[in-house]
Amino acid sequence: MTEKPVMRVLSGEPVWPPPVWLMRQAGRYLPEYRAIREGSGGFLQRCMTPDLATEITLQPIRRYGMDAAILFSDILVLPWALGQDLRFIDGEGPTMTPIRDSAGLAKLTLARAPGETAPVMETVRRVRAALPPECTLLGFAGSPFTVACYMVEGGGSRDFAATRTAAYADPAFFDRLIDLLVEATVAYLAAQLDAGADAVMLFDTWAGVLPPPQFFAHVVRPSARIVTELNRRYPGVKIIGFPRLAGTLVADYAAQTGVQCVGLDTSVDAARVAATLPANIAVQGNLDPMVLIAGGDALAQETIRIRDALRGRPHIFNLGHGILPHTPPAHVADLLTTIRQVA
Ligand code: CP3
Repeated sequence: MTEKPVMRVLSGEPVWPPPVWLMRQAGRYLPEYRAIREGSGGFLQRCMTPDLATEITLQPIRRYGMDAAILFSDILVLPWALGQDLRFIDGEGPTMTPIRDSAGLAKLTLARAPGETAPVMETVRRVRAALPPECTLLGFAGSPFTVACYMVEGGGSRDFAATRTAAYADPAFFDRLIDLLVEATVAYLAAQLDAGADAVMLFDTWAGVLPPPQFFAHVVRPSARIVTELNRRYPGVKIIGFPRLAGTLVADYAAQTGVQCVGLDTSVDAARVAATLPANIAVQGNLDPMVLIAGGDALAQETIRIRDALRGRPHIFNLGHGILPHTPPAHVADLLTTIRQVA
């Protein structure tokens, strides 16, 4: 039996008021993160230095008393660990050498990932040891489709045209890439669970760019394979899926992948989506990151609207996408106060 509020929700239990954490809760909006950032090398180096990654993971827990800590890392650490080069350029985001054919795939090696990601597992162990007992530790990975988007484009993109075209035009290549990522992601998440993560989340930021048949082929089926394999190894393991912008396909995603919780982006009415899910499937979300920047009455109203609309359902309060760098830290404190103020 677990008393951790987030784990109770992931077990299908409504908890009131809902537990809360925020995507990208450790990061540039926090002065204590910016202080560490000065002189600590690049972003990847911070992810790969357990001292720094542990401290950064714990910063929002100390400051706000979040109900979950999410490992400080990035979804692109996995392709980097498989052998793709990766650089984070300030203000521009990630840059990698694109992988678009079997010659590119040949540069990737499944077997090197566990060694390369050993510092991540050390961070998980240290965070685990430092967290208050009621705080859930979340591990994560990107889902194969979203990670493939960055691998094929060689970084971010407005429309991920090369990736979406490759999925149609060169299915042999694209399916091999997805298969490799399924296998690598299972091993990577299993290692995080072994190191002490309570639950894991699959980030699928670009799931919504695909039409339904492609969504089922490249988002749902690979995610289902990961969920099935993790459940075989860790019976009852809790997995949160975040098929961003999946719209009307969220219920199909939940049913066919087997996740216990779906992250909802800002575009959907959370209660209406929740009504299409089995009562024991939790939802996570879906406050607009912009209203957190605005603060004040607008923030209080939106927070209460979402919180109260999901009352009686298993719900983890969160944003609909990551917190933005220019968010005033005081607004995050206001948000938690509002969520936790119940009559
Ligand atoms: O949520 C957390 O606090 C945990 C850490 C985390 C990061 N990235 C840290 C990060 C997580 C879970 C991610 C996920 C991630 N990374 C996603 C999926 C979720 C989403 O936001 O859509 C994606 C698509 C990425 C890839 C990525 N990483 C991009 C496109 C960028 C550049 C944009 C930006 O915000 O700078 C990153 C960099 C990144 N990942 C930073 C952080 C804190 C900023 C770099 C820095 O602070 O030096």
